[in-house]
Amino acid sequence: MNTTLNAIEIKNLSKKFKAYHHRESNLKYVFLNLLKGKRKKLSSEFWALKNIDLDIEKGQTVGFIGCNGSGKSTLLKLISRILYPDGGDIDAHGKISTLIELGSGFHPDLTGRENVYINASILGFSRAEVTKKFQAIVDFSGLEDFIDNPVKTYSSGMYVRLGFSVAINIDPDILLVDEVLAVGDENFQKKCIKKIMDFKKEGKTIIFVSHDLKTVEELCDQVVLLHNGKLVKQGKPVEVISEYHRLLIGASQLQVRKEDPRQGESAPKDRTTWKNRWGSKEVEITGVQFLDLQDNVMEFAKTGQPLRVRIAYDAHKEIENPVFGVAIYSDTGVHVTGPNTRKHNFPIASLKGQGYVEYEMESVPLLPGSYLFSAAIYDYQGLQAYDHWEQYWRFHVIESPEMSERLGLIAIPAKWRMGKSEGKKLRR
Ligand SMILES: Nc1ncnc2c1ncn2[C@@H]1O[C@H](COP(=O)(O)OP(=O)(O)OP(=O)(O)O)[C@@H](O)[C@H]1O
Ligand SMILES: [Mg+2]
Repeated sequence: MNTTLNAIEIKNLSKKFKAYHHRESNLKYVFLNLLKGKRKKLSSEFWALKNIDLDIEKGQTVGFIGCNGSGKSTLLKLISRILYPDGGDIDAHGKISTLIELGSGFHPDLTGRENVYINASILGFSRAEVTKKFQAIVDFSGLEDFIDNPVKTYSSGMYVRLGFSVAINIDPDILLVDEVLAVGDENFQKKCIKKIMDFKKEGKTIIFVSHDLKTVEELCDQVVLLHNGKLVKQGKPVEVISEYHRLLIGASQLQVRKEDPRQGESAPKDRTTWKNRWGSKEVEITGVQFLDLQDNVMEFAKTGQPLRVRIAYDAHKEIENPVFGVAIYSDTGVHVTGPNTRKHNFPIASLKGQGYVEYEMESVPLLPGSYLFSAAIYDYQGLQAYDHWEQYWRFHVIESPEMSERLGLIAIPAKWRMGKSEGKKLRR
């Protein structure tokens, strides 16, 4: 019997991957080398994780944070044995359930019901055990009406709901969650967080990977910061998150996920596949940029400092009295603000051809974290959408030296004052 207090023990763990070179240059390379009669290596190796030592106590909720590509998901996959290490050891004590990628382990042609059984059996549960839990899984997912449809017909949010419902309802000892909560809708996120809280209370061990530092701070007892495959810091959430912010400020470049369409850059590549876009497109939003007041593209916005958001458009015909609107959402889906040019009394007579409209904040009130930005152009009444991009752009806010507030979502410009009540009772 295992008497250790640790649920997971990681010793000197390393994992390497192949880094492939650019395809075109590869082909050129191959061709030239063939001509020269040489064979050249097409890939090199790099360490995605290097010498990680980490013990996770039973009953702890531990957050893994770090920039894109720092090795968080790789570490989770090693713990759940989806991947195998190239050095070191992992000991996990207890049944592990993993929610790693969108519907990981789901077979697209099979129905939700069939996938629940397969998924649970991969996780080590018998058919009888799953049958007992099946209704709870379906109820939690809220997918009763869709459970007998093939999962390839599900939306990405529905995938996550089902995956999470299986992972969480089969009663594991250790739950691994990788950034999936952001995909579900607000209600489902709340439900998941509540379930994770229940898990915590039951003394289960949870590892939670997320870029949503506020949830990490709320949920976790301990946080681990990874950077370039190394464990940089482990400790109390507040301390490790501050270290991460310092590291981000020091980083010369924001390492945004290349395949994530929602990065803070204009005209990301896979705009055409973005599902949360609608409108008649007589005028189109061609890009959004986050700039400072000197028009430099900002890698991060800073709390308390100015931010200019430039929304570039292309009007294919003349559009009269359009209204530009924007919205900011927190990573947890909270709608922080949603101003538009009409409400701000900024009339736009007409649009034709290309141009841009800017939304400028004198002082960003948002506290450090990751945010999603929507931009839209509507007719004057707000009835017809010309082009609406919902939560497409992601941007990050980091601490600035002059603003040390950290709790909540925004910093309200406000003052504190003191006085004497001189015998008068304060009104309650
Ligand atoms: N199967 C793979 N083959 C090759 N390289 C990989 C593979 N999986 C991950 N990597 C690389 O390993 C590094 C760590 O990736 P990982 O997915 O663990 O990062 P992460 O911290 O989870 O990032 P994110 O915040 O973007 O999810 C990255 O450089 C990534 O490109
Ligand atoms: Mg990851």
